[in-house]
Amino acid sequence: MKTIRSYIDYLQHYQHSTDNPEAFWAEVASHFRWQKPWHSVLQWSFNPYQVRWFEGAQLNLSENCLDRHLATQGEQTAIIWEPNDPQAPVRRLSYRELYEQVNQFANVLKNNGVRKGDRVCIYMPMVPEAAVAMLACARVGAIHSVVFAGFSAQALADRINDATCSLVLTADVGQRGSKQLDIKAIVDEALAACPSVQRAIVLQTTPKGCPMHPTRDRWWHTELAQAAADCPPEPMEAEDMLFILYTSGSTGKPKGVVHTCGGYMVYAGYTFANVFQYQPAEVYWCTADVGWITGHSYLLYGPLLNGATTLMFEGIPTYPDPGRFWQVCEKHRVNIFYTAPTAIRSLMSFGEKYPAAYDLSSLRVLGSVGEPINEEAWHWYHDNVGRGRCPITDTWWQTETGGVMIAPLPRITVQKPTFATLPLPGIQPILVDDKGHEISGNPAEGNLCLKFPWPGMLRTTYGDHSRCQQNYFATYPGLYFTGDGCRRDEDGYYRITGRVDDVINVSGHRIGTAEVENAINEHPMVVESAVVGYPHDIKGQGIYAYVICSDAPADADEFRREVLREVTRVIGPIAKPDVVQLVDGLPKTRSGKIMRRILRKIAEGETANFGDTTTLLDPTVVDRIKAGAAGLRG
Ligand code: WT7
Repeated sequence: MKTIRSYIDYLQHYQHSTDNPEAFWAEVASHFRWQKPWHSVLQWSFNPYQVRWFEGAQLNLSENCLDRHLATQGEQTAIIWEPNDPQAPVRRLSYRELYEQVNQFANVLKNNGVRKGDRVCIYMPMVPEAAVAMLACARVGAIHSVVFAGFSAQALADRINDATCSLVLTADVGQRGSKQLDIKAIVDEALAACPSVQRAIVLQTTPKGCPMHPTRDRWWHTELAQAAADCPPEPMEAEDMLFILYTSGSTGKPKGVVHTCGGYMVYAGYTFANVFQYQPAEVYWCTADVGWITGHSYLLYGPLLNGATTLMFEGIPTYPDPGRFWQVCEKHRVNIFYTAPTAIRSLMSFGEKYPAAYDLSSLRVLGSVGEPINEEAWHWYHDNVGRGRCPITDTWWQTETGGVMIAPLPRITVQKPTFATLPLPGIQPILVDDKGHEISGNPAEGNLCLKFPWPGMLRTTYGDHSRCQQNYFATYPGLYFTGDGCRRDEDGYYRITGRVDDVINVSGHRIGTAEVENAINEHPMVVESAVVGYPHDIKGQGIYAYVICSDAPADADEFRREVLREVTRVIGPIAKPDVVQLVDGLPKTRSGKIMRRILRKIAEGETANFGDTTTLLDPTVVDRIKAGAAGLRG
């Protein structure tokens, strides 16, 4: 892999990547296995949006993750699986074993009618078979759509229907701490509303199993028993779709972000090697669920592309106690540990004694992802987990970017707490004001955009390219707009300040306020609602919902619980509001637009400085909401 080993190296690679992006990326790409070479490295336009990397080339991602390593490191561990129950046996899969399982499961997919280009939904707990499922899809050229197994039946059905999946891969149950999640029951409920699904293949993880639909459902193990061992990797065009991953935006339903085979592979592989400075034989642990982009790029594909040993953890950070992460680090001699600030803040609240109780001397590099890491959490992580020895790489990126974009390279970039620091080679960030004019010079603050394509960028939103154009390329024509606000300091270091659109980041999960409003509005008594984010000590942002009811509910607390149930039903527990305030009106302008700025201020606990309220239809509503807010935010 093309790797950066010093700061001088970084500067040279960066310079080369902007002077001659095609030559730079061609060299990075040459480290992978291609069945056919490209005839053009890059063709692109941001207006209208179209980008094509490695046109003409053919490859298979699973071949690059597995077959490529067999000769040199077939016996090395690819996946270490740590179960939810600390007493239960660990599973280890060597590259050869993973290769064999993926081959055989790829044949299961084929035996069940899956062909290149078909969409397969994966709704599974964190077990090695989830990784096998993704790699098997990649092997036969099926497009996977992994849905986090915390989303509700309705949310699952919406995603399956949007992508018209023909097959669902799932399991009986999932283990999360002391709770057991009835995954198959959720799938059954969802599939009642999914006409495109012909078949579900169900992994049995407990002796009890689960009810099976007589014609639709098949057991994973019986299917495997009937499948042939070898499945040659399907030759894929570089720009063929690899996967769809749904994510929330500021409007409407979640959109299916599309990544393609060639560019995604090159970017996930290149960034993993550099951002973590991975060394052969190291044990790497990313705590993300495979249902999120971090799980795709840095639990699975990035590490396997580099022949790394990746640890997959089924459970949660606080089970059986808040020392679990550190116990697992000690047990498996983890060298690189990658998690989200929300986990750090939550574990921080239990005190230093938990990390202090374990031998963490194997740790070499720490990573952070998903949301801005505050100064206090950064230092706690640095001092108590890294024991002052380990650099922290604060990685900024998005589902849409496919891989890390801005991050310090461990022991190469001089780190600065709370700063994602400098762009990786090939990445050209700029800050623009609200009119789209570039803000040059340092320091500067503005909206974070990218002015040049990179191989891992999204290609479209599934089934609706105009939505992709509208969402990312219309706000500032000629630029990709991230939706994030950002500050660049005197050293040119970037610090992400958070979303500037109607997306909130709750415990590192992206939630659209419109989506939560739509869910709340399903309650028969709700006339209208408005949802905003507010600073939350552990979650980063909490969800604050203002709700107008048709009649004053007899029992306000019961009504609030019903609202939460409604959101859990439509989206899932991760989108449940932290605060529900009943109001008799919302601050609207004469044209009917809700002034969210005011609602955000009230949710933050501000009592004055609401700015100009003269354009409001009824300015007195602000005082009434303010009065009602007092004392609600626990
Ligand atoms: C949004 C993307 C990228 C994987 C996980 C989240 C926020 C992400 C950072 C960071 C500050 C961050 C941004 C971004 N974000 N990483 N290091 N510092 N903010 O992926 O669900 O697509 O969310 O997460 O606001 O836009 P995602």
